[in-house]
Amino acid sequence: GQSQAKLSLQPGTPQLTINKHIYGNFAEHLGKCIYGGFYVGENNTKIPHTNGVRNDVVAALKKLKIPNLRWPGGCFADTYHWKDGIGPKDKRPAIVNRWWGGVTEDNSFGTHDFLNMCELIGTEPYLAANVGSGTVAELTDWVQYVNFDGVSPMSKLRAENGREKPWKVKFWGVGNEAWGCGGNMKPEHYANIYRQYATFMADSPGQPLYKIASGASSSDYNWTEVLMRDIPHNMVSGLALHHYSVIDWNKKGPATGFSEETYFRTMKSALFMEELITKHTAIMDKYDPQKRVDLIVDEWGGWYDVEPGTNPGFLYQQNTMRDAMIAGATLNIFHKHCDRVRMANLAQSINVLQAVILTNEEKMILTPTYHVLEMYNVHQDATLLPLELQTVDYTFGTDKLPAISASASKDKNGVIHISLVNIDPKKAQDITLTLDGKATAVTGRILASATMTDHNTFENPEKIKPAAFKGAQLKGNNLQVKLPACSVVVLELK
Ligand code: AHR
Repeated sequence: GQSQAKLSLQPGTPQLTINKHIYGNFAEHLGKCIYGGFYVGENNTKIPHTNGVRNDVVAALKKLKIPNLRWPGGCFADTYHWKDGIGPKDKRPAIVNRWWGGVTEDNSFGTHDFLNMCELIGTEPYLAANVGSGTVAELTDWVQYVNFDGVSPMSKLRAENGREKPWKVKFWGVGNEAWGCGGNMKPEHYANIYRQYATFMADSPGQPLYKIASGASSSDYNWTEVLMRDIPHNMVSGLALHHYSVIDWNKKGPATGFSEETYFRTMKSALFMEELITKHTAIMDKYDPQKRVDLIVDEWGGWYDVEPGTNPGFLYQQNTMRDAMIAGATLNIFHKHCDRVRMANLAQSINVLQAVILTNEEKMILTPTYHVLEMYNVHQDATLLPLELQTVDYTFGTDKLPAISASASKDKNGVIHISLVNIDPKKAQDITLTLDGKATAVTGRILASATMTDHNTFENPEKIKPAAFKGAQLKGNNLQVKLPACSVVVLELK
């Protein structure tokens, strides 16, 4: 028999802030993420838009409070030549998107389109630069084009293309997956390349660039070791890490209608993030005990087979309660490690992998993942309240995982939020939560559905959405919570 799960808020003065940038998104030129997702073209008469960017998407992402958006890739970034995407649209060259379906990319969505869209959404751009097939000069020109506030060849060109003021982009990725689609480099080679590129990326006065090195794939600890050893720490702000929740790269399984075994294995892969962050952090601590270099999980999420009948190169997948579990548990892991993990990007925003939004022509739906990120956004820039968690097991066959994941924070108004996830698809959990002092009121929201394969569709877009949560009772210093199977809850304590 299993005992109850217990949670207690630790006494003492909390020190750490959950950086809002942990809630970043990612938009690649891949399938229908940009074209049809974010962007439908200036001449579209069927779908309401602002300069070609869908109004429904802008409103949804504003409500989500996405703090940053990574673009244009992914693997696409290391094939992208930014000068192809500026100036009159009818003069822009068409290229082949070789990684993603071999489709023709007409470059109608480029630097201005992206950076102006970020202003519309109210999010900070994170540009991923081409290192694999680009040049140092091309990148220094890009930095000058978007950031330079004086007289220069690139700021002149920018003004000619309709933008006088620079956008002042802070976040820059120096290549992507340099160990793979970004050039199949060895870490020693990439470390040198990084040093070379970073040398010529000019800071703006008063605003140093935040440069992110292409990081490890999952458990490639040697990659992190070599980069921390070989790149001077004053040349790098963050090291990336990519990890997808995937059960088998050759047999990923469907996004819907999966078995409990598949579900269990997906969750095991998702929860592996805890070990990954712990081990990469230990290596970083060895070289950088003062934690100057951040760990940036700039690609994470569930990766399944594409929906039947769709282009295999477009990575279009549905999004179920399983994805809600991945999102809730992963964000709790990021919070716990917020002393090192200061930014992250869910892959990807629209119509690709673990999307927050799916579109079909003029229709748009919000996924369970969207709702989790929206419920959780109360944690953005809040103070982490360390928790002690005695969880119970979710067992499947002879294997087991912790059933509960949790985190707590206090916002700038003194309001405490506690996010709880129960990944057990069959069993509700009783949780006793011991507070550090008394609270006077508790309210909450829950995301749950009858089965773990449930999802929203264009026909039934609101099957899964947050509802008021009535399962928490306050008794002095204790909170008694009944957490339904396969649910995400966010409590608010005053
Ligand atoms: O997100 C899809 C792809 O996954 C990205 O382009 C690449 O960086 C990763 O392999």
